[in-house]
Amino acid sequence: MFEKVDHIGIAVRDLEKMVRIFRDSLGFEYNGEEEVPEQKVRTAFFPAGESKIELLQTTDPDGPIGRFIAKKGEGVHHIALSVSDIEAKIRELKEKGIEMIDEKPRYGAGGAKIAFIHPQSTGGVLIELCQH
Ligand code: CO
Repeated sequence: MFEKVDHIGIAVRDLEKMVRIFRDSLGFEYNGEEEVPEQKVRTAFFPAGESKIELLQTTDPDGPIGRFIAKKGEGVHHIALSVSDIEAKIRELKEKGIEMIDEKPRYGAGGAKIAFIHPQSTGGVLIELCQH
């Protein structure tokens, strides 16, 4: 079972510029940024009720966000769903024939355990499972 949409990830070219827009112009609360070397990104989270917006800028043109922007430009990159037991969820999805990008959880921003489902299995949308 999914508890909620944890966050929506947006790939951006210039994190500082977008933080200024989200915080100062759009009026989001801002909780600071974090670098996640394992994902080759810098991220900033903006709470929106039960969910958050995550902005991601690559730290390496060859990282996943760098490649995404080169191919598609800036925009919505993934939707993250919270789960209470990510290992069990990955097992369950694989048993049902869902293709996982990550068969084992990885480290995500804020100390979360995360795993991505292959967009081939989800109508072209990249879905992140995350457990806090
Ligand atoms: Co995310």
